[in-house]
Amino acid sequence: MTDRYAVFGHPIAHSRSPLIHAAFARQTGQDMRYEAILAPLDGFAASVAAFVAAGGRGANVTVPFKEDAFRLAQRLAPRAERAGAVNTLTFAANEILGDNTDGAGLVADLTRNLGREPAGQRILLLGAGGAARGVIEPLLDRQPAALVIANRTVARAQELARLFGRGVAACGFDAVDGPYDLVINATAASLAGELPPLSPAVFAADALAYDMMYGRDTPFLAFARTHGAATADGLGMLVEQAAEAFQLWRGVRPDTAPVIASLRAA
Ligand code: ATR
Repeated sequence: MTDRYAVFGHPIAHSRSPLIHAAFARQTGQDMRYEAILAPLDGFAASVAAFVAAGGRGANVTVPFKEDAFRLAQRLAPRAERAGAVNTLTFAANEILGDNTDGAGLVADLTRNLGREPAGQRILLLGAGGAARGVIEPLLDRQPAALVIANRTVARAQELARLFGRGVAACGFDAVDGPYDLVINATAASLAGELPPLSPAVFAADALAYDMMYGRDTPFLAFARTHGAATADGLGMLVEQAAEAFQLWRGVRPDTAPVIASLRAA
């Protein structure tokens, strides 16, 4: 029987996850189906329960349900525990397993696709919400020379720095010192077409500016380009986090490069 998977979100119609997982399944010869499910804002758990009852084997979780998924999981991978959020659920015989592949997806995009090994790099992370929190530990595991979190609300950045320890520093946008080799935008500013108020001095001579958002040029990437930085959007991260989830479920790692290329071309 064909194994069923899904992505849960609200909204969900825009999600590219069904396309990505269908491409992975074709490529690796896995007999599976992957659909998008719009869960009601107050009905995530019930919606997942119905999917499990109908034979669902696993699910991805996107905005705004990653914290709900964290609470729903009966067992958590350590990286999901520290991220405080779950983007990948696996429905085992008697329990729901929760994991978070977002940070691994970012690191895979940086190292495999962009040739930017974070080890020894000075990293500036913009934002202190769920998106930022999810990538801190996988970045730290690569042993950067520095990781500084800058956020509009400084207290939230400080809270994350305390939570992770390991030399992580925190500040407001106006207090960012520079330069940085890697500047990652994990704020929601791009969604609103806004630019975090940054000094151009944050970009080192060969810096990469990375926006976790994908699908359009953002004010952050335009600003970075103007000041000489290389740029990347979050499409590679999207595909790589999906590949990590696919591997958890199916035990094979798909080749992401052709999938990224075809999404870019579309
Ligand atoms: P997410 O899960 O996407 O991280 P979130 O938890 O609501 O969502 O966090 C949004 C992040 O984007 C926060 O860091 C927020 O800054 P505050 O903590 O000060 O609210 C940041 N953010 C949102 N809009 C922004 C803007 N226009 N400029 C700069 N930062 C912004």
